[in-house]
Amino acid sequence: MTFETKSPAETEALAAKFASTLHAGAVLAYFGGLGAGKTAFTRGLARGLNVSGEVSSPTFALVHEYPGNPSLIHFDMYRVSSLDDLYDRIF
Ligand SMILES: Nc1ncnc2c1ncn2[C@@H]1O[C@H](COP(=O)(O)OP(=O)(O)OP(=O)(O)O)[C@@H](O)[C@H]1O
Ligand SMILES: [Mg+2]
Repeated sequence: MTFETKSPAETEALAAKFASTLHAGAVLAYFGGLGAGKTAFTRGLARGLNVSGEVSSPTFALVHEYPGNPSLIHFDMYRVSSLDDLYDRIF
């Protein structure tokens, strides 16, 4: 299925709606370079999942966690080349 959005607000609204179809433990993979709208989509997911925190790109931290039930965890995989890279950030 393909969805096309015309603004960040539309992307967020789509993601907020999509969030209700997710189950705990769901993993989403984003493909898209700088400014593709990954963070906008994540902001919508956060709203839809009712998690707390201001959503921003995890470019430097590699991972941002937004607490909730379930929590939302946003990874930046761009500079991750091994499992250890991720484990170092999470545990
Ligand atoms: N349909 C759209 N959906 C989302 N963002 C859009 C759309 N049209 C234009 N934009 C613009 O594109 C940019 C998307 O930024 P966003 O931070 O979400 O991208 P990103 O994929 O997270 O980038 P980065 O890799 O730098 O973190 C914003 O400046 C936004 O205003
Ligand atoms: Mg981003």
